[in-house]
Amino acid sequence: MVKKNKTLWLLGLVALFALMLVGCANNTDGDDSNTDLDESEEVTADPGDESSEGGLDVGIVLPTRDEPRWVQDEQRFKDALADSDYTTEILFSQGSSANELQNVQTLVSKGIDVLIISPHDGDAAGAAAEAAAAEGITVIAYDRLITNSDAVDYYVTFDSVAVGAAQGQYLIDNVEGTGIPLYLYAGAASDNNAFLFFEGAWSVLQPKIADGTFVIANSSEAEALADSPELSRDEMGRILGQITTNWDPNEAINKAQTHLTAAGDELKGDVAILAPNDGTARSIADTFATDSDVTSFVITGQDAEMASIQYIIDGKQSMTVFKDVRRLVEDAMGMAVTILDGDTPETTGSYDNGAKDVEAMQSEVIVVDQANVQAELIDSGYYEASDFTGLE
Ligand code: BGC
Repeated sequence: MVKKNKTLWLLGLVALFALMLVGCANNTDGDDSNTDLDESEEVTADPGDESSEGGLDVGIVLPTRDEPRWVQDEQRFKDALADSDYTTEILFSQGSSANELQNVQTLVSKGIDVLIISPHDGDAAGAAAEAAAAEGITVIAYDRLITNSDAVDYYVTFDSVAVGAAQGQYLIDNVEGTGIPLYLYAGAASDNNAFLFFEGAWSVLQPKIADGTFVIANSSEAEALADSPELSRDEMGRILGQITTNWDPNEAINKAQTHLTAAGDELKGDVAILAPNDGTARSIADTFATDSDVTSFVITGQDAEMASIQYIIDGKQSMTVFKDVRRLVEDAMGMAVTILDGDTPETTGSYDNGAKDVEAMQSEVIVVDQANVQAELIDSGYYEASDFTGLE
């Protein structure tokens, strides 16, 4: 008996030591990596659920908490999961592929069967997807495609080419005359979506550049390709190299300032600005607003971020493309649950990611400006009127 007690005591000590080691491992996560449990969200709606066999069912990895767009997604996931029978955990990668890989490894070690991941860098995320796939986990790319990897099974997305086309068309529909200076901005080249958005915008803007409605103000590479209705990925890459914001509002300000400083009087006056998303649109709009030689501007955006809805109400940003994140979350979780139930999810098409055709589920997008902000975002229950000033 004495011996047995001693063994139990020793086992207890070993277990305690192991727990301390796990605690230390969590604490060694970088301060802003958000990979530690304190900063993650675990939703365990039904403790009686046996689907996870004691582990997590679904791991969700989002690119950064620093942009309202992805905080929206986190909130919509939480709302959707409140009544779910499955256990999930959401981790943020804070704009780092190394954090992203670590996040995926953490979730894999917790026994997930499905990984929903929006990559920071589409190519680099292949390593994270492969780590998950090696354990038999189904990988769903969320909003951003993982590129040049076989390890991605499904893709849930908005129609990103349509986003860019809607932005370009809005500029066309809201300018008057000819020779209008056109300032082009784009997202990060590490994000496949940046190419899709630009492709969509170019498809409608190019004929209007060719016929003289617009004059490109800030990209010699785009000017050189002004007669090409369709651009190769390399050609778009060269343009993006000059006009990328890297999805960073500060970089957007710097680029806009540089472009305005370089522009002569003929590139001022009433101008049009293709801004790729709301975060960069607000920065670019603020910068153009301070240039006294710019008399008016039409500027695009996307994401329907609350701050940009206020900008639209106040007349400081012209439009946004509303991508209903509730729908994307529903599609992603619906797909995950189908997989957990052992069935094959429905898809609506496929995307070539450079290594394979990835089966995809795609949602439509809606253009929002002052004319329909109330109907699309308030009456639809997406936001409350009281979130804004100047709405009834
Ligand atoms: C998303 C946009 C977002 C951007 C920057 C894109 O991949 O589709 O909604 O604004 O990344 O985070």
